[in-house]
Amino acid sequence: MRNENIISQDDQNPLKNLDQWEEDLLVRYPDPTSINADKKEDQFRNYEETEKDGVKEFYRLNHTYQTYDFVQQKKAEYLKFDKEEMPIWSAFDFLNKLVDDSDPDTDLDQMQHLLQTSEAIRNDGHPDWMVLVGLIHDMGKVLCLYGEPQWAVVGDTFPVGCAYSDKIVYPEFFTANPDFHHPAYQTKLGVYTQNCGLDAVDMSWGHDEYVYHMMKPYLPESGLYMLRYHSFYAQHRENAYDHLMSEKDHEMFKWVRLFNPYDLYSKNPNQKSWEELQPYYQALVAKYLPPTIKF
Ligand SMILES: [Fe+2]
Ligand SMILES: [Fe+2]
Repeated sequence: MRNENIISQDDQNPLKNLDQWEEDLLVRYPDPTSINADKKEDQFRNYEETEKDGVKEFYRLNHTYQTYDFVQQKKAEYLKFDKEEMPIWSAFDFLNKLVDDSDPDTDLDQMQHLLQTSEAIRNDGHPDWMVLVGLIHDMGKVLCLYGEPQWAVVGDTFPVGCAYSDKIVYPEFFTANPDFHHPAYQTKLGVYTQNCGLDAVDMSWGHDEYVYHMMKPYLPESGLYMLRYHSFYAQHRENAYDHLMSEKDHEMFKWVRLFNPYDLYSKNPNQKSWEELQPYYQALVAKYLPPTIKF
């Protein structure tokens, strides 16, 4: 059940808030175009030197502790979905608790990021299930509220059980991962086979894998790929794991790549209010999802 205590363990949670990881992504992968024409560069928070230290420490923890065994353990624990059952609207209220009051710089709650993503997708005329993907893609961050440290909720995801690509951010931190000294896990293919397909590959544990399994019965496969691999930057931006990808994965990653700019670059200071958007989203959720979802 929910464990509020672990959240305050500062040494496990070096980020001021979960958004800091996404801000770091923007530094690594800056916006090449403009999805929201009315946004201005200075409306985005400047990335301060001091924040980099927290982000770097976050990656150190992530790369040190995301082992093959850790992933198996978290899958066994969370994919039972026996924590609680609630409407997704309650999950969003729950998620908004992640806003850190001690950080006056936090301009958005989690719900705003989800709405900005989904609205940018809707404004571009994509299918409604993709709008829904925009709305729910970060819902797995509720893991933080079940007591998981930041490094087991967010961060770039990567395959475990095989060699780490140097295209993953801060690859040098992997030397501290116990799997790094486990020869079977450090060959190029590791425990997998050539082009076996990502469905057979265990990814580092986080909000992506969790929400994918949660939504599996309800969304088209292209939408499920967006959910499951939206933080797999080493592949969707760097093509570092082609040796594990099947033909089908390559086809489906077109959808993952279509989604990514909406996640990263959809900040919009002129976002419509929730009150105005509510009727559309309530109907959309009712179209695809049951009244309650198991967490
Ligand atoms: Fe995400
Ligand atoms: Fe996101």
